[in-house]
Amino acid sequence: MCGIVGYIGKRDVAPLLLEGLQRLEYRGYDSAGIVITSRTAAGKPGTLKMVKAKGRVRELEAKVPKRFAGTTGIAHTRWATHGAPSDENAHPHLDADNKVAVVHNGIIDNASELRAKLTADGIVFLSDTDTEVLVHLIARAQADTLEEKVREALRHVEGTYGIAVMHADFNDRIVVARNGSPVVLGIGEKEMFVASDVAALVAHTRQVVTLDDGEMATLKADDFRTYTTEGSTTTATPTTVEWEAESYDMGGHDTYMHKEIFEQADAVDRVLRGRIDDRFSTVHLGGLNLDAREARGVRRIKILGCGTSYHAGQIGAQLIEELARIPADAEPASEFRYRNPVVDPDTLYVAVSQSGETYDVLAAVQELKRKGARVLGVVNVVGSAIAREADGGTYVHAGPEVCVVSTKCFTNTVVAFALLALHLGRIRDLSVADGKRIIDGLRRLPEQISEILAGEDEIKRLAAEYAEAKSMMFIGRVRGYPVAREASLKLKEVSYIHAEAYPASELKHGPLALIEPAMPTVAIVPDDDLLEKNRAAMEEIKARSGRILAVAHQVQEKADHTIVVPKNENELDPILMGIPLQLFAYHTALAMGRDIDKPRNLAKSVTVE
Ligand code: F6R
Repeated sequence: MCGIVGYIGKRDVAPLLLEGLQRLEYRGYDSAGIVITSRTAAGKPGTLKMVKAKGRVRELEAKVPKRFAGTTGIAHTRWATHGAPSDENAHPHLDADNKVAVVHNGIIDNASELRAKLTADGIVFLSDTDTEVLVHLIARAQADTLEEKVREALRHVEGTYGIAVMHADFNDRIVVARNGSPVVLGIGEKEMFVASDVAALVAHTRQVVTLDDGEMATLKADDFRTYTTEGSTTTATPTTVEWEAESYDMGGHDTYMHKEIFEQADAVDRVLRGRIDDRFSTVHLGGLNLDAREARGVRRIKILGCGTSYHAGQIGAQLIEELARIPADAEPASEFRYRNPVVDPDTLYVAVSQSGETYDVLAAVQELKRKGARVLGVVNVVGSAIAREADGGTYVHAGPEVCVVSTKCFTNTVVAFALLALHLGRIRDLSVADGKRIIDGLRRLPEQISEILAGEDEIKRLAAEYAEAKSMMFIGRVRGYPVAREASLKLKEVSYIHAEAYPASELKHGPLALIEPAMPTVAIVPDDDLLEKNRAAMEEIKARSGRILAVAHQVQEKADHTIVVPKNENELDPILMGIPLQLFAYHTALAMGRDIDKPRNLAKSVTVE
């Protein structure tokens, strides 16, 4: 999804901004642009110089003229919402006098209304974007300062935005504002950065300030200040980003997806580190802000997330029910708000998000908080909007995930849920012996993950065999069902092969009609109390000449192929069973020549509704 990067200081700004844009490429985009200026003597207006290009950042770079010097600038990668991808619709946008430049992430909901009014007043629009209304509103604002002009413009606007604004008459500063779309300031030595994602900053500074919704900031080369859209000053204490710039590099792998799949053993080790308390067979989760008495009072847990995070939440709900015996379920956050949910004071709500910025999840959290609910966050990005909005929670410590398709964050999120379930279980009725059993199982995970990944060659061979399928079925029961759902999502988003996921028990209630040799099935078959039932489902498929690839703890006779995974505790098996299917999706997509890290139509962090 769209990315913003900006700089004010002494360095040559264009190469800095282009490098920043490259670091944001992973988010998905279809065009890019840059506007720069140089500092002038006080009172003397500057000149804004702009270049925009449809396509990749390297195409923008190729268009940047040799003499394109400046020390202040803002740049953008755009993911089309209003108006097709084109040079004209790419950001930044300028007003008719080339004085005001704006880059914008988010959506202005009342853009058409504002556009009609501005057009009636004689303004000529050069693009189809919603953003351009902001430029004209700022240019027309009567206020004396850039901050006031931006504030005046924002008063007319409904919707979401993360914006960065430059003005030729105020070229000692960049003004930024946030409402629903991330804006992070990077604090340097006599230089300041701004970006929509720390990925664009960490090569230059690890000191950051994340703006809240309704907050604005003025960046100058040697200082910054933050304030609300109403004008009152806010306190902004810089925090240090833990992620190194190198964690964004490919590290010898051909794609980020491959790198991130292979980082999972270390990532799981990280989420466990320092949390296990062997003395009481439990775990400590520092940031929950939920004491034992409050935890005992929880009658129900509702987990909210989107896509892969929702699937992680489904496994999380099962872990909580099994280990803590608290009724729990997961629901897509994108639907939750719209069904006017009953918000119960004894229910604990848990918002799950890798990015911590997904609009649908954030909006669900805000709706819940408005209704007085207690919300925990299970989030990867430290200091992200959902992490800050929640009453407490836990970080999943997966490290940065660059590939649009989530793999290591999924696994770490499920492990984080296992920790939460164990923690709640040990406060309630989970015995010391069971607590120890789960802890021992958790400790075995990193090694077992490495063991699974060592089987890559065989998985690659299987992927080549199944890559001809036009459509695939994924089945599992109870613990295996969310694994099947996530595996089917992985396959479709990265290979574009159509895939369906069903509980194995539901096959005969309809989807069995689809089974034929051309429709292979991936069956999740753990060695648990449902093993025989899963075998019976495979029998039904075989009887209809369906091909089966099983993921199981032992070779399955009914299946054409089995990927055997190491056995852990029944409750923790789902964590491992999905991993070979990430590699299966990866190699299928590779065999089909797909753009693995940036699948078509998808973006990493979906900050619009
Ligand atoms: C799929 C994927 C998405 C995200 C979803 C929510 O591989 O990554 O389905 O899980 O867009 O994103 P987060 O977790 O950032 O809230």
